Amino acid sequence: SADRTGALVVLEDVTARIRLEEQLQQREKLSSIGLLAAGVAHEVNTPLTGVSSYTQMLLGMIPETDPKHALLQKVRRQADRASNIVNNLLNFSRTGSATEFNDLDVHRVLDDTLQLLETQLRRNQIEIERCYDPELPKALGNAGKLQQVFTNLILNARDAIPEGGQITLFTASTDRETIIIEVSDTGIGIAAENVAKIYDPFYTTKGVGRGTGLGLAVTYGIVQEHSGHISVESAPGRGTTFRITLPTAHAQARLQAASD
Ligand SMILES: Nc1ncnc2c1ncn2[C@@H]1O[C@H](COP(=O)(O)OP(=O)(O)OP(=O)(O)O)[C@@H](O)[C@H]1O
Ligand SMILES: [Mg+2]
Repeated sequence: SADRTGALVVLEDVTARIRLEEQLQQREKLSSIGLLAAGVAHEVNTPLTGVSSYTQMLLGMIPETDPKHALLQKVRRQADRASNIVNNLLNFSRTGSATEFNDLDVHRVLDDTLQLLETQLRRNQIEIERCYDPELPKALGNAGKLQQVFTNLILNARDAIPEGGQITLFTASTDRETIIIEVSDTGIGIAAENVAKIYDPFYTTKGVGRGTGLGLAVTYGIVQEHSGHISVESAPGRGTTFRITLPTAHAQARLQAASD
């Protein structure tokens, strides 16, 4: 009848939209900083190469017994460190340019990364647990860049574990479309108010000379380049889990076919 009243309640789930907006903001921030970083890195690289090669020449002229030799070696180590930072910056700003993508076995890339880091993880009394999905589909990606991603995440996990702990590598695939890779640690965790900053270039809580704050910025860029996502969950005092999702090679091929 006409005098009946009612209410229409419309509920809209905005989490996806907010997430998308956050991602856009992050990407814009990264692209402007990336340009600046590339410019600086490029300019700094040339004099740095000079310092490295002149130091190398001097090292060849001075006998190892000379105390100056040890000092020169320190100069070279510092120059190497600076050069690593610069290369990271260049890598970071280069994401988006042509990268070769291949069908790859993510477990293989994870294991290669672990092998490189094994000794230092053992030195820090860190136990590695692998929990791999035996039926994980292939990913379409660049092995070198993904190795850089896993290295960054594992080294961050190591740094978060004060003395003794565990890092878990977990993989899964929900369907034939998506691969999930998680790197978890039993470390100190990230305070809720800092979570939003961790992907910012130069955001670091590590001491001078210990961290440049580029690891996760680079990681973020590479994951984007792979049409993937990265997210984090952390419980301060208990640990952190980084989760990356990547489209499978199958999903990429289907998308490619659809756009042709
Ligand atoms: N697994 C983790 N546990 C706790 N904090 C983390 C973890 N991963 C990242 N963070 C926090 O995020 C910050 C930024 O990480 P990011 O890898 O970008 O830089 P960094 O490790 O400090 O330096 P870099 O990677 O350039 O050597 C870290 O300084 C740390 O505070
Ligand atoms: Mg790092």
